[in-house]
Amino acid sequence: MNRKPVILGIESSCDDTAAAVSVGTKILSNNIANQKIHKKYGGVVPELASRAHQKNIIPVIDTAIKQAGIKKVDIDAIAYTNGPGLLGSLLVGSSFAKSFALALGKPLIGINHMHGHVLSLFIDDEKQKKPEFPFLCLTVSGGHTQFVIVNSPDDMKIIGSTIDDAAGEAFDKSAKLLGLPYPGGPEIQKNAESGDKHAFVFGKPKVKDLNFSFSGLKTSIKYKIEKEIKKDNNFIDKNISDLCASIEYSIVSILINKLSKAIDNTKVKSFAIAGGVSANSLLRKEVYRLAKKKNISVHIPKFEYCTDNAAMIAIAGYYKFLKRDFTKHNIAPSARLKF
Ligand code: KG4
Ligand code: ZN
Repeated sequence: MNRKPVILGIESSCDDTAAAVSVGTKILSNNIANQKIHKKYGGVVPELASRAHQKNIIPVIDTAIKQAGIKKVDIDAIAYTNGPGLLGSLLVGSSFAKSFALALGKPLIGINHMHGHVLSLFIDDEKQKKPEFPFLCLTVSGGHTQFVIVNSPDDMKIIGSTIDDAAGEAFDKSAKLLGLPYPGGPEIQKNAESGDKHAFVFGKPKVKDLNFSFSGLKTSIKYKIEKEIKKDNNFIDKNISDLCASIEYSIVSILINKLSKAIDNTKVKSFAIAGGVSANSLLRKEVYRLAKKKNISVHIPKFEYCTDNAAMIAIAGYYKFLKRDFTKHNIAPSARLKF
């Protein structure tokens, strides 16, 4: 093949139904249907998520193909998320991907969602260069918080991860305690803007090596709120900005402290962040500051490629396509797919 391959990416691991079309590492379209239904439940309800995927998947893919200005016959391969994630959600995307690949007579490429987050750093971006191998990536999402050494698109190794909650989960659970809707990260960020980050001090985790823990922070926030509400029923309403600023600051500080340690330990020349929490403006600011302090280069995905999207799945599919690393149709997605 002389031209760059055209890949259709499909992502349905959690509550976003997404489809994207790429040519090489360039994104031609990136379409997402966010499920609003979970907002009031304070978290994703798996059964509702699969039903919404079932409703959204065909229109989302159809629109992504039209927006890319291509025809179905132009697609060279179909990449889809094979796990980890909610099984019912994964099944909708993978079943569609398999049927479509079969109908078009094109290869199928199963992608690990967390590899997708890392490879989102390789999507063409006029504002920044792509990372050079090897580099360190802190992947922070709703389900994972892990340090990865990235040697190549198909050679990645985890060198540290959370022993309990993920960073995104810490944002989501804290938001729930404050009565804010799901997803909690953007809500906490918005409310934190006018708050004092030093207003409240929460417990700091003591975890060895390059591992993380966030469950203690959640408990510390819970106890503080319960104690103060006994004295004043309107404590949360009166202090919402300061609470959010302090929570955001605590989570970001935990991440930055470990990131600093990981850079020193690994002696890498460049590092990156990826995943939903990398959309957080305080984290982005602190990461740039850390890079300056350590005098090494840093890479952060474009805002729209931080949270779940199918562009990252299409890019991951592109790298597998180059190696002809295709997936058989009898492979089932896995909720706990290994990295
Ligand atoms: O990568 P992602 O979209 O899905 C998973 O793979 O889990 O990450 C979702 C997580 C949620 O926990 C959400 O609250 C968090 O990313 N998040 C943020 C922000 N935007 C999304 N956390 C902090 N600040 C944000 N601006
Ligand atoms: Zn994700």
